[in-house]
Amino acid sequence: MTDDLLTLNYKPHMPPKTDYGIGIVGCGGIVQYAVLPTYRKHKLNVVACYDINRATAEQVAQEFGIPKVYDSLEALAADPEIQICEISVPPQHQLDIARTCIAAGKHLLCQKPLADTLPHAAEIVRLAREGGVKLAVNQQLRWGPGLRAARDLIRKGWIGQVVDASIQVSVNTPWHMWPWLAVSPRLEVQYHSIHYIDAIRSILGDPVWVTSRHARNPLQGQIVGETKTITIMDYAGDLQALIADNHYNHSDDYFAIFRFIGTEGHITGTLGAMYNYPHGREDTLEWSSKVHYPDKRFEAKLEGRWIPDAFIGPTASLMQAIQDGATPETDGYDNLQTLRVVEAAYLSMAENRSINLDECQAVPCPD
Ligand SMILES: NC(=O)c1ccc[n+]([C@@H]2O[C@H](COP(=O)([O-])OP(=O)(O)OC[C@H]3O[C@@H](n4cnc5c(N)ncnc54)[C@H](O)[C@@H]3O)[C@@H](O)[C@H]2O)c1
Repeated sequence: MTDDLLTLNYKPHMPPKTDYGIGIVGCGGIVQYAVLPTYRKHKLNVVACYDINRATAEQVAQEFGIPKVYDSLEALAADPEIQICEISVPPQHQLDIARTCIAAGKHLLCQKPLADTLPHAAEIVRLAREGGVKLAVNQQLRWGPGLRAARDLIRKGWIGQVVDASIQVSVNTPWHMWPWLAVSPRLEVQYHSIHYIDAIRSILGDPVWVTSRHARNPLQGQIVGETKTITIMDYAGDLQALIADNHYNHSDDYFAIFRFIGTEGHITGTLGAMYNYPHGREDTLEWSSKVHYPDKRFEAKLEGRWIPDAFIGPTASLMQAIQDGATPETDGYDNLQTLRVVEAAYLSMAENRSINLDECQAVPCPD
């Protein structure tokens, strides 16, 4: 076996230039426990922040040593030291904020979901394209160590042709961290399974058919949306991917696992972040292969976590794209394909049928 085959290529690649001025819009939970700790570790240049709640912005600026706190989005967007605006607000506000930042010529790193509706997301993508700025979406699970390593193994042919994939999560999710989500009619697929849909797309590409079933749990009380879902992504050639999530497993038998079964081997692992969100633990990864080492079962010790470490992935990819004139891996157009699967999942549930992805077109793609 060659060294290249044995070396798992799963860590985000930092571009040569990383000192772009970053302005943070929205300074809530995800910024505090994931974005800024990761940026501090990588010594990124966060120059300013803004939140509609000034006290939150000031507290975050103090904790992370951010030099400027702005009173308005317009003031932050006008700061010539800022090249990248990073938006982390509930998604119904993202379009208006993106419009202001794009008009000021800033590159954008937006949170998932890119917007509350597919047309609003498409509008952000259109505005960024017409404004000549780069847009990346923070679908950082693609850079989660376990799934990124699985992608590397699959690309190197360890398990042959992939015929079956699954992500199954049955945990106790702390929904109280997001009070604004409690009233959302869409919950699990739009805010959580969207990570799994995007990560599977990054490995297997776009499905042809989407079938999805959603349920509530007797324990969820006033929370409006679905919290237990099963989504099947059917591909050409009989490949199927299953995503099954239950967020009200209050027993001690909880799990968050992924599996890829191929014609020549298998990969299995755990998503550490989901074992005690957001603190979590490291992912695990095991695999076997009839191709490269038939009598051996492999196990890897992976560094970093989906939360917070993987957050550097979309940022590094955006910075690389800015300096190369290229496209970030999770750019807006790519993200619209993830959102089409999300849309198809809700349509499937509403109409009790499988949805061909072409039905969820509504998205102008680039030439
Ligand atoms: N990528 C991930 O793994 C991940 C994880 C959690 C949350 N998120 C996403 O991040 C976003 C924020 O989630 P959160 O958990 O930080 O929520 P949060 O409620 O903890 O924080 C949101 C912050 O945005 C501020 N805000 C709201 N509207 C604003 C506006 N118009 N202008 C400026 N500030 C505004 C609020 O005051 C608050 O401080 C959501 O879209 C969520 O889906 C992503």
